Amino acid sequence: MSSVKIKILAISGSTRKNSSSFKFLKYISEHLKPQFEVDIFEGLTNIPHFNPDLDTENPPEEVVSFRNKIAEADGILICTPEYVFSLPGSLKNALEWCVSTTLFSNKKTGLITASASGEMGHEQLILVMKTLEANFNDATQLLIQGVRGKINDEGKITNEETAIALQNFVNNFENQFL
Ligand SMILES: Cc1cc2nc3c(=O)[nH]c(=O)nc-3n(C[C@H](O)[C@H](O)[C@H](O)COP(=O)(O)O)c2cc1C
Repeated sequence: MSSVKIKILAISGSTRKNSSSFKFLKYISEHLKPQFEVDIFEGLTNIPHFNPDLDTENPPEEVVSFRNKIAEADGILICTPEYVFSLPGSLKNALEWCVSTTLFSNKKTGLITASASGEMGHEQLILVMKTLEANFNDATQLLIQGVRGKINDEGKITNEETAIALQNFVNNFENQFL
């Protein structure tokens, strides 16, 4: 059997230290089959504001590094809260640096919005990632509402329905690669 790992880049849309989105990504990384290797991206705050003048000619090194991580990954996981009915600015900013590229085109992707409400943010996440031509479908996207009551400080899922929905999501995400 091949020992080459399936590389997943996981991006949390929240830069908060105790973020639920980060905890969900950690939970998923621990529940994927052993042939998966998950790198949780921690550099979102270091990515400069999008500037079309620098986009193709002279992108900042943080952007080059982010783009390389996407290129090298076999799949992408995004988990994000909704901020003011939209995507958090830092996540949107990072994605804007990818619009001129084909990095997400046909890349197997899983999308989760984990938020207080999150409906509009999730719709926008789907729209943005469709625009970037990411490869996902209904089975590989999930909206987790009332997030504060669904995962505790230790990263344990405290709601049975959420645990089942996440397990289904994990299975569907994995099956694309196996
Ligand atoms: C600036 C700001 C705006 C927010 N706006 C929304 C919103 O529009 N809809 C929503 O469901 N939650 C909103 N929230 C609450 C987040 O859903 C909640 O704080 C969530 O736990 C953040 O995710 P995190 O734990 O991964 O940081 C907002 C929070 C912040 C800080």
